Amino acid sequence: MMKRIFSFMMLASCIVSAASAQGLKDAYKDYFTIGVAVNQRNVTNPEQQALIVREFNSVTAENDMKPQPTEPRRGQFDFSRADRIANFCRENGIKMRGHCLMWHSQIGEWIYKDEEGNLLPKEEFFKRMREHIHAVVNRYKDVVYAWDVVNEAMTDDKNATDPYRQSPMYKIAGDEFIANAFRYAREADPNGLLFYNDYNETDPVKSRRIYEMVKKMKENGVPIDGIGMQAHYNIYGPTEEEIDAAITLYKQVVKHINVTELDIRANEEMGGALQFSQEGMAVSDSLKQHLADQYARVFRVLRKHKDIVDNVTFWNLSDRDSWLGVRNYPLPFDSEYQPKKAYDYILNMRNPEWQLPNRPPRRPRPEGQQGQQGQRRRGQRGQQQQQRPPFNAALAFPEKADVKEDFKPSATNLARQDYPQVNSQGYVRFRVELPDAKSVVSTIGGGGGTPLHQCYDGSWVGQTQKPEDEGFHYYHLTVDGGLVTDPGTHIYAGGARYESGIEVPAHDQDFYAIKNVAHGNMQEVLFWSESTQQMRRAFVYTPPTYDGKKRFPVLYLQHGWGEDETSWSRQGRAGIIMDNLLAEGKCVPFIVVMTYGMTNEVRFGGLGEFTAQDFEKVLVDELVPYVDSHFQTIARRDSRAMAGLSMGGFETRLITLRRPEVFSAFGLLSGGTYSPEDLQKANLVPAAGKVAKGSQPVSLIFQSCGSKENPDGIRNSTSALQAAGFNATGYVSDGTAHEFLTWRRSLMEMAQLLFKTRK
Ligand code: XIL
Repeated sequence: MMKRIFSFMMLASCIVSAASAQGLKDAYKDYFTIGVAVNQRNVTNPEQQALIVREFNSVTAENDMKPQPTEPRRGQFDFSRADRIANFCRENGIKMRGHCLMWHSQIGEWIYKDEEGNLLPKEEFFKRMREHIHAVVNRYKDVVYAWDVVNEAMTDDKNATDPYRQSPMYKIAGDEFIANAFRYAREADPNGLLFYNDYNETDPVKSRRIYEMVKKMKENGVPIDGIGMQAHYNIYGPTEEEIDAAITLYKQVVKHINVTELDIRANEEMGGALQFSQEGMAVSDSLKQHLADQYARVFRVLRKHKDIVDNVTFWNLSDRDSWLGVRNYPLPFDSEYQPKKAYDYILNMRNPEWQLPNRPPRRPRPEGQQGQQGQRRRGQRGQQQQQRPPFNAALAFPEKADVKEDFKPSATNLARQDYPQVNSQGYVRFRVELPDAKSVVSTIGGGGGTPLHQCYDGSWVGQTQKPEDEGFHYYHLTVDGGLVTDPGTHIYAGGARYESGIEVPAHDQDFYAIKNVAHGNMQEVLFWSESTQQMRRAFVYTPPTYDGKKRFPVLYLQHGWGEDETSWSRQGRAGIIMDNLLAEGKCVPFIVVMTYGMTNEVRFGGLGEFTAQDFEKVLVDELVPYVDSHFQTIARRDSRAMAGLSMGGFETRLITLRRPEVFSAFGLLSGGTYSPEDLQKANLVPAAGKVAKGSQPVSLIFQSCGSKENPDGIRNSTSALQAAGFNATGYVSDGTAHEFLTWRRSLMEMAQLLFKTRK
């Protein structure tokens, strides 16, 4: 956690220093100008003014130069608001995009209707339109370099035979209204660049309509200089390919392309998963990453087209100003005007961390629904669910140079569950179907886990940044802040709950592999516990040669904190390890008994107060007699061992020292160490020497841990024990931490030493 906070602070300070060194406009000086749509507050608040001047070299009035605000009634102009913005730009030497001269929205009806509300005759409409365009253009042409002359005149209805939006202006004059608007603008300003501007401009059907219309106009001598791509996008699309295709098409008919209204919603407008940020709540890291990635993709393809794209304008200064609302998290500056990760990605021209796979073409919506974007309710969920294509791993998991493409389902998966997957290097891939989730993080992967991202098919996918250690790992998913297991894998008692588990194949996995050898039995027994007044459960492994006649020594083997009596046989593979050793004649046959160590009532970290007194009663006074009376055991101290992992090792140490008459061999697996003094105090002595009366000989002390734990502790303790004459062995599992591969290997090593020196 600290690491994450620290790296976040590093990132934040990089952003700030990069921003103060140069703004977006400077970073992109060799590509295109960078603009911003502003409101009245932006140009009057000193900090926001400073931010505009620092970052941008083009400004658009978000609303104040539109037809209705500038001429609410015929001949009654109100330029006060537009002037405020224009004057700010004049004072700061910033040029403007003039937005917009003709639009079906935010326009006084007087321009196309008479007093009775009837559509005007064509000539009267043209006269009024010309007067309006002349008035606005003449007032601002000194500061405006590009005009959005006609806005949004094409329909989104894919099935429509008429490509034009059925606006009142179109109804009066057909597409002559478009042609004349451009002609009037050119009359008033022979120098300004004249644009046709529209949204959904990367959609294959609509882009074709825009292209055909502009082409036709230009063939008829209409002065159109450029196409404005509004670029109201979302984190899932469009893809770079779609943007590239649209630009490539438009390039054939115009010499200028401006991206006029860029913002990236944190949701998929047309259905699917909404990814709204909650106002006042922390925005998830994965959402921040999605936004940064999509901005990175958009700018990458725009940079590629710098020969034709000459301006890119953000639609609003910060999330606080956005017409989409703060919850959409759409802009490079957050609601506090602070730069986001997305800003860093744009400024420093970073590549996206995740590639967006190709998406299917969007499905058409009926004309009524798409309406004017400006009037769409905020946060409204699309009526139609997007039809999603089948999952394709090759698209979802882009190839990485150093990652081998030999991923296989984890050995812990249920049949027919393809994910999680692991490759030969130990990289892990996740995929879960959580179509309505807002954020999904897997706990596997260093530095706070692996954030998953939502794929075009609605599932969430993710891949670890680095290979994981060999062996078994617990994990879970954090979905929208809550903890869940991954339905693809088995679950295991761990962490005082059921955790998902994954197997990263180990180079020495053969010793715990299920093979065609003689197998013992792993049976579940229930025994009465007087001290706890309940039936308790234990698992008892009997070797293949157990026939009900021959008697065997017994190892009592304990799990760790958060685990239970199932842990050693399932994730520990204790029975399989024993079978394999016995098949190779590497150990003497013995029984293994595993019961619940009553560890989990202790809160995590509360080990200091833990005495194992209750468990000692259950184990020594109840379970040992039960096992000795129900199984063919050698019911003697010299044929009884106790070992445990982690907190089970701690219990082993406490119980073996308190009850020296019960066990003769001890194993602590990542579970501490004995000192010669501990043993002497308990009258436990080396088995090799002369055993004084009242003392108990210790036949074996086995202590181990992973090389990523505290191997020196094990080595030092083992030397001290050996120096004191004890038969002590220290074992360090190479390349593993406090995890089950350490303990599987430890059991394998320890089993070969147990009961060998028995008389
Ligand atoms: C939007 C403004 O941002 C809103 O404040 C207003 O309520 C509606 O218009 N396409 C355009 C812009 O061309 O003019 C729109 O601006 C956004 C969609």
